[in-house]
Amino acid sequence: MIDLHTHILPHMDDGAKNVRESLEMIECLNLHEVHTAICTPHFDPRKISIEEFVSKIEKAFLSIHDSRMTLIPGSETRYHNLLYQYSDLDQLCIQNTNYLLLELPDQEHWSNSDFENIEKLINIFRVIPMIAHIERYHFLWNNKKNIRRFMNLGCVMQINANTIIDKKQRKTALHYIKNGLIDAIGSDCHNMLQRPPNLKEAFVIIKKEIGNFYCDLLQQNANSIIKGRMIRNDTSLMLKGSEF
Ligand SMILES: [Fe+2]
Repeated sequence: MIDLHTHILPHMDDGAKNVRESLEMIECLNLHEVHTAICTPHFDPRKISIEEFVSKIEKAFLSIHDSRMTLIPGSETRYHNLLYQYSDLDQLCIQNTNYLLLELPDQEHWSNSDFENIEKLINIFRVIPMIAHIERYHFLWNNKKNIRRFMNLGCVMQINANTIIDKKQRKTALHYIKNGLIDAIGSDCHNMLQRPPNLKEAFVIIKKEIGNFYCDLLQQNANSIIKGRMIRNDTSLMLKGSEF
């Protein structure tokens, strides 16, 4: 399996505190049949520059270089106007793709201009936002029209594994998967105790409740994402430099 959303790199954010914890998390991912993990440490343009962020990522990768897991660099980028100071966001995207795991600002309501901002981000930087943990945003999770509005812009909708595991949210999450409103699942693991790797647990539930077809679909999407391919409409390549 592919885990699209992890905080396993050491010394980056509120995820793995040190190399030991990082390696423990990777071992746990291995045990849970994850062969590829996208490393998505938080990037907040108010707190750090892209150059500093990339330098930290490179050091973090070197510190866990003996890992048996395929690790792919990326980020979980917080949307903010300060992003527009950069000429491109390539180094924040999942490596060699246009997919950018995007964390939305905390706000109760979304206006047309907020949606226009996401459209602007897409048009200026030629990125495909993968909206992180959509279950966290009430305006989105409780309103299918808003989910579709993001999807119509070309965004990929991601939920955390815990949303399937949590019985209170499971019914809605499974309903959305069946109705094509969720494209991707990630563990969003931060540590070994409160927020451990748990992707397999979620897939076991999906298989039991709605069938293997949806497990396969979600994994196919994950595979397409890391290869920079479209997950909807067609399979044309969207590797860096290509038109889409
Ligand atoms: Fe995250």
